[in-house]
Amino acid sequence: MLAESLGKYQQRINLQLSSHIDALADTDPRLKAAMKHGALIGGKRIRPFLVYAIGDMLNVKLETLDECAAAIECVHAYSLIHDDLPAMDNDALRRGQPTVHIAYDEATAILAGDALQALAFEIISEPIKNITPSQNLAMVKALANASGYSGMCGGQAMDLRSTNKQIELATLIQLHQLKTGALIRCAVEFAIIAAQVNDEERQALLDFADAIGLAFQVQDDVLDIIASTEELGKPQGSDTDSNKSTYPKLLGLEGAQKTATSLIEDALSALAKLPYNSQLIAEFARYIIERRV
Ligand code: IPE
Ligand code: IPE
Ligand code: MG
Ligand code: MG
Ligand code: MG
Repeated sequence: MLAESLGKYQQRINLQLSSHIDALADTDPRLKAAMKHGALIGGKRIRPFLVYAIGDMLNVKLETLDECAAAIECVHAYSLIHDDLPAMDNDALRRGQPTVHIAYDEATAILAGDALQALAFEIISEPIKNITPSQNLAMVKALANASGYSGMCGGQAMDLRSTNKQIELATLIQLHQLKTGALIRCAVEFAIIAAQVNDEERQALLDFADAIGLAFQVQDDVLDIIASTEELGKPQGSDTDSNKSTYPKLLGLEGAQKTATSLIEDALSALAKLPYNSQLIAEFARYIIERRV
């Protein structure tokens, strides 16, 4: 069931993303090509999956979720392009392809990331089918929050500051929650805003989101050690080589894997509180720690 849904939503988001980027004027074809390189080639599309699958579980029409899914994936693509830059992780391989600054050049990669971020906000601030202006505004705000200082960028800054350093587990948790958890939580928030659920359900969904968001980055850290470059499509051992603060570094490989498993148990308990058919989402939660890519 999961593989089929992942495939279905991947197709849907790919169409959305390519139509938004193709619609841009050809004032700078090279920048546009770099944006496509960063946004369209590969990627698991797990944030769009969450928008669609949780929205669908909450009875929101898929056509109401297209802008949210596209916007969040544009921010994610931008974050990866910048994450790979020499000033950050300095990685040359992403999704089995040369990273954007290698395929193009550094200045173009910076601008492609910037332009994808702006495109995200252009998309999410368009009028959305079946959504009121105040719901729409709440979505813009959620994405801004998750992307900026209080979210992804803030976490990336903590990541850089924690390199070549021993940090406390509490600091690492916060770092991971910000750099990766915030956008994953935002995907769930989008579905919540579109569906307008009650407070109890909202809390259970956010608890679920926080648990899988952290687990996702713990597993990303684990895969840096146990998966191959071919499987990952990005350089195996990048974290070790750069002396990053990661879960395996702090807790050992087994400790990190145990943490990921227990976070997914928390996620499943939160999900079980919901009066919806959450079978697909539960399957997705387990996939987060079973994946090899
Ligand atoms: C990689 O994200 C960076 C993290 C936040 C861990 P993904 O693992 O979702 O990357 P893609 O989009 O599938 O390539
Ligand atoms: C990146 O974390 C998180 C982002 C905000 C992009 P990583 O640096 O661990 O992501 P990968 O392993 O390069 O995909
Ligand atoms: Mg990084
Ligand atoms: Mg990286
Ligand atoms: Mg990583």
